[in-house]
Amino acid sequence: MRKKIIAGNWKMNKTIEEAIELANGLKLDLADCKDVDVVLCPPFTALKSVSDIVSETQIAVGSQNMSSEDEGAYTGEICHTMLKEIFVRYVILGHSERRQYYKENDFWINKKVVKALEKNLRPILCVGETLEDRESGSTEKVVEVQVREGLKDVAAESYTELVIAYEPVWAIGTGKVATAQQAQDVHAFIRGVVKDMVGAEAADAVRIQYGGSMKPDNAVELLGQPDIDGGLIGGAALDATSFAGIVKAAM
Ligand code: PGA
Repeated sequence: MRKKIIAGNWKMNKTIEEAIELANGLKLDLADCKDVDVVLCPPFTALKSVSDIVSETQIAVGSQNMSSEDEGAYTGEICHTMLKEIFVRYVILGHSERRQYYKENDFWINKKVVKALEKNLRPILCVGETLEDRESGSTEKVVEVQVREGLKDVAAESYTELVIAYEPVWAIGTGKVATAQQAQDVHAFIRGVVKDMVGAEAADAVRIQYGGSMKPDNAVELLGQPDIDGGLIGGAALDATSFAGIVKAAM
């Protein structure tokens, strides 16, 4: 039985002061929640403050990106050592906004995934098709390439540590949520690709989150699907009541 995982991707939102307020609110609401893995992913500047607030709770902290390199002359980058120093456990990698606006490609995303696993950080690898891909019938093809390339050279044993987030780009921040059936179909497809890559045991163990306009009122149906193991939440993660509502829907 796969444990559900709900992660809040705060993107480029929240000052340190605002992040502290949100994390304190969630700590009150969710500190005892043992049945669901909860991850907060604030911007880099607020990671340490949020990490301190949730340090003695079940809530984990994640970053929204990570360098594939260990240290050195990489202006603007943050490496695994810096994240682990402040008890970050998860890293979101290959989010569609990074692919789209910063031209991150599968090659570099894979290097980051491999580095994160090597350093005992848990990657949340994001994959998903654009509206154009979906309308031209290429959803499976696009998602398959992102999964195969993003997880290249990852050993079967590591699939219990990593998370795949299926996020149809057309559903992110648009209010246009995929139907539960549309999402389930792609999740089952991704699990099949993983099975083909590394075997049935890893495919059965890997957690696949849905992301894209998930809210408390659509979370129950989405999370009720057999291959949907959680959510990666953007907009609704910026408000304690909404985010806590989604976590409770996962219980
Ligand atoms: P959204 O974002 O919930 O605002 O659609 C999800 C994401 O981009 O991770």
